[in-house]
Amino acid sequence: IEHRPLYGKHVLVTAGPTHEPIDPVRYLANRSSGKQGYAIAAAAAAAGAKVTLVSGPVHLRTPLGVDRIDVESAEDMAKAVREALPVDVAVMAAAVADWRTKEYNDIKIKKRGAAPPALVLTENPDILASVAASAKRPDLLVGFAAETNDVVDNARKKRKSKGVDWIVANDVSGDVMGGNDNHVHLVKEGKVEHWDPMTKQDVATKLIEEIAERLNNDD
Ligand code: C5P
Repeated sequence: IEHRPLYGKHVLVTAGPTHEPIDPVRYLANRSSGKQGYAIAAAAAAAGAKVTLVSGPVHLRTPLGVDRIDVESAEDMAKAVREALPVDVAVMAAAVADWRTKEYNDIKIKKRGAAPPALVLTENPDILASVAASAKRPDLLVGFAAETNDVVDNARKKRKSKGVDWIVANDVSGDVMGGNDNHVHLVKEGKVEHWDPMTKQDVATKLIEEIAERLNNDD
């Protein structure tokens, strides 16, 4: 039990960016590599959990013992997450696109005349907030908040407004997006832990340790 502290638990992880299609050959995306989410899925599996990883488009190998579901858009990710519930713990590390194109062009948009096409955007569903509000809300729900400024303050607000238990606030003002290192603050109810900068793998291990402690102590 000691070395497999999540044995018997089902952990859902979202990771990577989403791609929001414009037409058959173009999409909107962001710089997320998926490394932090994949490291968390790997650490959860190593801790003995059954792991479902809902992944946006990334260039990473599936961690050992992880059940991976590939999606492209935020709407696809929302559906895959709904279908994965119920779980004991969800860690939502995906960098979900805030907006998608309002209308998908099912043929390639052509260069024509002088004026470039205007992209009309519409808001994507907030997957994390809808899991928080769901009847199947996990016992422990963890979100991420990538910020370039006022990192902890924004994360505190986000924890409350989204109705989640913990927020991993990460400072993405440096080389975090795509890099191997991360600098995070774990924002809990009435408590913030400032972690030293470390590798994404170490962030994952430490987070999984805290999750196991919380589940096993029921506090
Ligand atoms: O609001 P913001 O995008 O900063 O929130 C980040 C957190 O919310 C992350 O955990 C991310 O995975 C989640 N999120 C989501 N669906 C969205 C936007 C964000 O699940 N549409």
